[in-house]
Amino acid sequence: RLLIIDFGSQVTQLIARRLRELNVYCEIHPYQNVTDAFLADFKPRAVIFSGGPDSVTREGSPRPPQSVYTLGVPVLGICYGQQVMMQDLGGQVEGGKISGGGGTAEFGRAYVTPADQTDPFLNGWFAEGREQVWMSHGDHVSRIAPGFEVYGTSPNAPFAITADPKRHFYAVQFHPEVHHTPNGKTLYENFVKLAGFEGDWTMGAYRAEAIAKIRAQVGDKKVICGLSGGVDSSVAAVLIHEAIGEQLTCVFVDHGLLRQDEAQEVVTMFRDNYNIPLIHADEQDLFLGELEGVTDPEVKRKTIGRLFIDVFQKHANTIEGAEFLAQGTLYPDVIESVSFSGGPSVTIKSHHNVGGLPEKMGLKLVEPLRELFKDEVRALGRELGLPEKFIGRHPFPGPGLAIRCPGEITRAKLEILRKADAVYIDQIRKHGLYDEIWQAFVAILPVRTVGVMGDGRTYDYACALRAVTSVDGMTADYYPFTHEFLGETATRIINEVEGINRVTYDITSKPPGTIEWE
Ligand code: XMP
Repeated sequence: RLLIIDFGSQVTQLIARRLRELNVYCEIHPYQNVTDAFLADFKPRAVIFSGGPDSVTREGSPRPPQSVYTLGVPVLGICYGQQVMMQDLGGQVEGGKISGGGGTAEFGRAYVTPADQTDPFLNGWFAEGREQVWMSHGDHVSRIAPGFEVYGTSPNAPFAITADPKRHFYAVQFHPEVHHTPNGKTLYENFVKLAGFEGDWTMGAYRAEAIAKIRAQVGDKKVICGLSGGVDSSVAAVLIHEAIGEQLTCVFVDHGLLRQDEAQEVVTMFRDNYNIPLIHADEQDLFLGELEGVTDPEVKRKTIGRLFIDVFQKHANTIEGAEFLAQGTLYPDVIESVSFSGGPSVTIKSHHNVGGLPEKMGLKLVEPLRELFKDEVRALGRELGLPEKFIGRHPFPGPGLAIRCPGEITRAKLEILRKADAVYIDQIRKHGLYDEIWQAFVAILPVRTVGVMGDGRTYDYACALRAVTSVDGMTADYYPFTHEFLGETATRIINEVEGINRVTYDITSKPPGTIEWE
């Protein structure tokens, strides 16, 4: 396996992404955790130093343990990683000036031209004579370390690519992992080939490794897992169950704010299909009771969050001897919490609903998905045999239908909302649009409007359809349904759902709107 030492770059996760596309298994570890003992235990076949926001010219700036250079394995340094390598091995780095003549800082697109092309590291690179790369550095290498040669230069980076071919140390000033270095994957491909990777890593291999790790971590102790029915916690639960069987118990909190048939689907799937011990905490009365009369969105969210923790804890306490709490934490969640550069805070995920619980209950965490991206979790889910319908599901918020029911939440309104939502999703599936849309749902509005059906007057609720495209939920655009689709869907909802006599389509993007209505 390959070790990526993370020095805090915003794009470290993209390095892992590129490597997995090459079917190479890698793990990212923050530099603070990578000690001599860690390296000896990890036994990487190759190491990559990520970029990072610090300056190697600053005393006390992040370093890898020096034993990394005597492991006898290829090392690739990127940006800050390049500068670290140069300085550690006897070269020199200087701070760059950003403005004025002679400045050496470089941000954005640049072109690298060849100084040497014979090394296999450069196979397929420089095919067009020069390569577009993406630079983002203030400091620059002013003298390369002994044993290094120059392979490529750019106007502001005479040492854009350098290497010590004997030791297989490679150092690049730019970021080959980003989109704006269009041919960057070639360098990773060459690097992993030099390191002897065969490109044979698969989800099957990951599954086997993950199972072995879970067994080693948990031993004969018990694990509890909060199951939401979402992809992440479902995949985590099935994987852990495969590893430790009956030592796992899942707790599924039904707050009465789920979609039509959802609770039954989750219970059937996990209890009957997978034989996973499952506590179905039917707490609808508790949640809906406490929410009675509540109209403020923040109060709704806080009430649900508080009750969720109480209920989860109550049930978890009945499992004697549980020492671990399983969570479906994904890699982007991990990076979020160790990121130096404090990127935008990302979507609140359902497992954050039990935040703080592990400490409170004295539980240790099992997080078997913490190295994976969302699409890789889906691939693992398929590998584990989870039905496609489950794997491809749109995200569903922890507070459920409560935030799709502006104003007061009543059982009657929830019932109408569930029915309308089911018709809408059915329409989307029938038209083959489900996978194109990132998230779609109905919100029931707190107004009633006048209509006419047959010969009679109606006075029923209005609803809004929502459908968005998005990559990560941070920004979103409304989905451009055809008028035919919208018309047909409105007719079906009004005909099939008693209690709704008007349908609107929400065409707000995010920003300025949010995806949910509350
Ligand atoms: P907004 O409405 O903020 O939603 O644009 C962005 C994404 O996050 C989901 N969401 C939540 N998910 N707990 C969750 O697990 C929450 O409290 C929550 N609030 C919003 C929302 O469904 C969308 O996918």
